[in-house]
Amino acid sequence: MSKYITTPIYYVNGEAHIGHAYTTFIADTMTRYEKLKGEDTYFLTGTDEHGQKIEESAQKNGKPTQEFADEISASFKNLWDEFGISYDKFIRTTDEDHKKGVQKAFEVMYAKGDIYKDFYEGHYCVSCETFFPETQLIDGEYCPDCGRSTSVIKEESYFFRLSKYEDALLKHYSNNSDFILPRSRANEVINFVKGGLRDLSVTRTSFTWGVKMPESLHDDKHVMYVWLDALLNYITALGYGKDDANMRYWPASTQFVGKDILRFHAIYWPAFLMSLDLPLPKRIGAHGWWTRDGEKMSKSKGNVIAPKEVADVYGAENLRYFMLREVPFGQDGDFSQRAFIDRINSELSNDLGNLLNRIIGMSGKYSEYEIDSVDVEQFHEKELDAMNTVLDSLDTYMENLQTHRYLEELWRLFSIGNKAIEEHAPWVKMKEDKKDEALATVALVANILAKASIMLHPVMPKTTNIIADALNFTIDNSSYKELVLDKKLLKVFNIKVVPPLFPRVEELLMPEAPKAMLEEKSKEETKEIKTEIQERDNLIEIGQFFETSLKVGIVVEAEEVPKSKKLLKLQVDLGEGSLRQVVAGIREFYTPQELVNTQVCVVANLKPAKLMGMTSEGMLLAAKDEDGLCLIRPEKPKKAGTPIG
Ligand code: MSP
Repeated sequence: MSKYITTPIYYVNGEAHIGHAYTTFIADTMTRYEKLKGEDTYFLTGTDEHGQKIEESAQKNGKPTQEFADEISASFKNLWDEFGISYDKFIRTTDEDHKKGVQKAFEVMYAKGDIYKDFYEGHYCVSCETFFPETQLIDGEYCPDCGRSTSVIKEESYFFRLSKYEDALLKHYSNNSDFILPRSRANEVINFVKGGLRDLSVTRTSFTWGVKMPESLHDDKHVMYVWLDALLNYITALGYGKDDANMRYWPASTQFVGKDILRFHAIYWPAFLMSLDLPLPKRIGAHGWWTRDGEKMSKSKGNVIAPKEVADVYGAENLRYFMLREVPFGQDGDFSQRAFIDRINSELSNDLGNLLNRIIGMSGKYSEYEIDSVDVEQFHEKELDAMNTVLDSLDTYMENLQTHRYLEELWRLFSIGNKAIEEHAPWVKMKEDKKDEALATVALVANILAKASIMLHPVMPKTTNIIADALNFTIDNSSYKELVLDKKLLKVFNIKVVPPLFPRVEELLMPEAPKAMLEEKSKEETKEIKTEIQERDNLIEIGQFFETSLKVGIVVEAEEVPKSKKLLKLQVDLGEGSLRQVVAGIREFYTPQELVNTQVCVVANLKPAKLMGMTSEGMLLAAKDEDGLCLIRPEKPKKAGTPIG
């Protein structure tokens, strides 16, 4: 059975950052893993180039849209090439074949009666490229997804009968419990569908940067809605609408997406496929969001990290290892140089690198680099059993996308190897004239390294090829079968000396995240946040009052702070283009759910403070008495950022 693995296609409105790199790394790792197992696997990535957002970005950069898209698309492709990403195809939605495929799909849906023409009057969020019904808007104006202001658009539009597929979708979710991974995310999707699906506007007349309508419809006023165009890339890449050359790979085995675009992939996409009478992907894997040093990355904060910058100083494969090891799939992750350096030094350098160096050193000293596994079973039955148990456990983790557990378990192999060396001390055995025993330990560890390298190969392909070269074997499907599945040992082989693979990192190699805005508070102060308005009995001048900048904010995200009974972490829109993080001591009085999409009043010019390691960039106004605390809110909804005073 063949496999098909996809990443989302990346918008060409900006350069890649480590969040994009993560999706691509995990998809590449999964692809390499399947190929190692001998599966015929196709891997797709690419760029999403149409829509108003891209058109506007090109204008801001003073470039023709196509030229702008060409440049950014090439920068993604070059980046993935530098990272050795093993994609089979890099699709661009401006490719002619793709456009034809989209037109074909439109015709099929239209002929089936799933697309009809009507008028749309609605609120459009350009940033999310999505229409929202008024009932879903925050305060009648703001986008429920990103919190930005929406604009009212009335236009003629073609609609896709999404509502028709409501029951079929719900049935699919309940019959396929692994359709959405992690399963915890499935509920969000199911509840959304249960809330009722409205037909989806799938064309626009307000701009032209999109796939044109099929000629058969004689309606060139319209261009396709960017999400219809974009989602179809997963099949046009296989030749849908052209020659179906690679359609045998459909349905996809795993489609990786970030949690923010799960809804498009788990609702719209399956509905489009049902309309096209095509099978649905086997599963959609939704990963979490990456922050940097605990903060959301944004251009305005200047804390976005370019994957290439990190790779150049810390090593591209080290970065892959770190990202896949650090975060349980589906959860949010934090990129911090310190955490990264810890893993390089302890796991890569100490556990793996040193083990290899010891084997090279000992084999050179005791047997002129020649290793013979003939006595391993006699002296190391216990270690071989332990090693095989670990090897047998690994597949389930990878197949369930739990890369962090996969790597954690894989690292047990190095502990087994290191422990065997300590316990059997080959140098003592050599002195006691028990050369067979000493060499059996060296051979055991060389075999452990070989098998571990095969399993680590999908995560660190180049590095493990160097290890395999040092151990004189090749990593491929046949060595996987022999050494991992059939549990054979390498026979007689020669060790090659290679330089240390993972030099220790003693200091930060990149500048820290910009800290200009941050000011450390004393520990006492940071223990508790004060949301109460301080009572003032001394009189002040009006000018003193106006030194405080108070603004209306909209809570876009809210979550509990682990290990804190008092704190909630909020992302608040103050109309500044990027969100502010506010850490507030209101957890005893509000749940995160009841805060999202509500308005608050924020002290906007407080010096940022650190609370439990998190930066807080504002304070909420609240009133507190013996009955508890309540937030102060505008009496009527106001725009984010409206000054108070
Ligand atoms: N073009 C759409 C996808 C269309 S797929 C048919 C899009 N593009 S994107 O460039 O904005 O995002 C691409 C992917 O990057 C998404 O899966 C998104 O979740 C992911 N990430 C963007 N920022 C991220 C982080 N900070 N952390 C982790 N992933 C993030 O959406």
